[in-house]
Amino acid sequence: MISMKVKTPIIIVNFKTYEEATGKKAVKLAKICEYVSKKYDINIAISPQFCDIFQISQFVKKILILSQHIDSIYPGPYTGHISPLSIKQSGAIGTLINHSERKLDLEKIRKCIELTKKYGLISVCCSANVNESKEIAKFDPDFIAYEPPSLIGTGISVSQTKPEVVTKTVNEIKKINPEVKVLCGAGIMKGEDVKKALELGTVGVILSSGVVKAVNPKKVLIEFAESIK
Ligand code: G3P
Repeated sequence: MISMKVKTPIIIVNFKTYEEATGKKAVKLAKICEYVSKKYDINIAISPQFCDIFQISQFVKKILILSQHIDSIYPGPYTGHISPLSIKQSGAIGTLINHSERKLDLEKIRKCIELTKKYGLISVCCSANVNESKEIAKFDPDFIAYEPPSLIGTGISVSQTKPEVVTKTVNEIKKINPEVKVLCGAGIMKGEDVKKALELGTVGVILSSGVVKAVNPKKVLIEFAESIK
């Protein structure tokens, strides 16, 4: 099965397991993302917790929903695992893989990407450095999101403080697999961080606390939208 096309530039909001993005609050935040996406004509995807995917999908129809992880399994006797089929049937169109808070070894990453292709899901594979990005590019994911773990949740932007690593990551990935779209994330807080990420050759960003923990998430998302117009 061929996975759907995702428009870029794109901003992915990872809800992680923050209380501000759990249950009813997750639905509210998802609706804000959808509102800004429609009104400002920018592509926003969200990555809520597994248990919130279905209820969000009932209210939010115009933006893409990604799960935060899948296990490399087919439906069957795998208690406590997350099957790609279940996230698809809950309303997700794709998944993050190998987030630095949910690391997988290379073989599992390969299998997960293979499964996303079988189920027609979008794969957004995270990587912590250039070398890991290069290895993952060989598996042909839809996206690789470079996120240096040391900057995650710090409010210090990867695009502002590691511009040369972002560009190197984009270039090295393209040498191996020009089809892979590259994102960056960690510490993205402002419109200028998003703008800079695009200038460095990425097709977007993945972020969490800058929106989820913001006093006014809508305002932050509007700032992002305006920065890339
Ligand atoms: O997946 C997004 C991420 O790990 C970055 O988190 O809070 O630095 O935007 P944050």
